[in-house]
Amino acid sequence: MQTVSTIAEVRARVARWREAAERVALVPTMGNLHDGHIALVRQARSHADRVVVSIFVNPLQFGPNEDFSAYPRTPEQDAERLAEAGADLLFLPQEQEIYPHGRQGTTIVEVPGISEILCGASRPGHFRGVATVVTKLFNIVGPDVALFGEKDFQQLLVIRRLVADLNLPLAIRGVPIVREADGLAMSSRNGYLSSAERASAPGLYRALQEGAARLLAGEQVYREVEEAMAHSIVVAGLQPDYVTIRRREDLAEPAMGERDLVILAAARLGRTRLIDNLAVTVPSPSGIEPPVPSGDN
Ligand code: PAJ
Repeated sequence: MQTVSTIAEVRARVARWREAAERVALVPTMGNLHDGHIALVRQARSHADRVVVSIFVNPLQFGPNEDFSAYPRTPEQDAERLAEAGADLLFLPQEQEIYPHGRQGTTIVEVPGISEILCGASRPGHFRGVATVVTKLFNIVGPDVALFGEKDFQQLLVIRRLVADLNLPLAIRGVPIVREADGLAMSSRNGYLSSAERASAPGLYRALQEGAARLLAGEQVYREVEEAMAHSIVVAGLQPDYVTIRRREDLAEPAMGERDLVILAAARLGRTRLIDNLAVTVPSPSGIEPPVPSGDN
């Protein structure tokens, strides 16, 4: 695996692969890689001949009082893990390479609606920063496919939306959440937790599982299920930011009887903000699934 820091080097490398008609996948990250990131790289291998991974702690997606400076940066270890996982190219740019006109001076990409709710409401400007850097990475690498974790479910929908709206010529694939043995979703931010906080952290996922069980048992008053989950999160020692049941397709508030749902939550544990989500497919009341249309059109 080669590591490069300039856009010109990435383009030169990808151009050679293209001449050989090879398919290229991109996995954008902010580094400090864990098994969740590695799962994306392994999935990428199965969709393409070549895998490019970017590591860039993107200042544009952090709020002024957030953890941009404290965010863990471990490029040597990351490069070793990526080589083992079978990545072909690591793009590790400096800030100047990505934002030559400065953080304020750059052209931005804004995805309305979906960027403004949930994490977007708690973190104004966050998804604008994500959408901007991801669009740039797509244009720098020109991949056939890019992979994103379902851990950041809202981010995945923001990116699907921007790709559709801007007619970007690539496919987006979501990858299931990788969890620790006790259920905590893997995250670079888990490293901020004290040992006492780490012991409380799985309470977030447990609350989502409780909510999912109630939905699967046929409860339809979403508000009550949400309140019970918020209570569980507080009892576990976390402070909920939001815990909500949404339509999986677009995170709209679900109508009664909606079947494709996702439960999303964000909570604070001391100074650390954790997010998690769990998809729930409510069975049809009759227990008989509607026929699946034959898929050749
Ligand atoms: P980062 O938090 O480093 O995550 C990089 C990718 O790994 C994202 O697609 C994220 O959803 C995925 N990921 C993280 N933890 C995961 C887990 N436990 N299971 C599965 N996938 C997981 O997300 C970002 O960086 C940035 O916003 C980025 C898209 C790179 C733009 O700056």
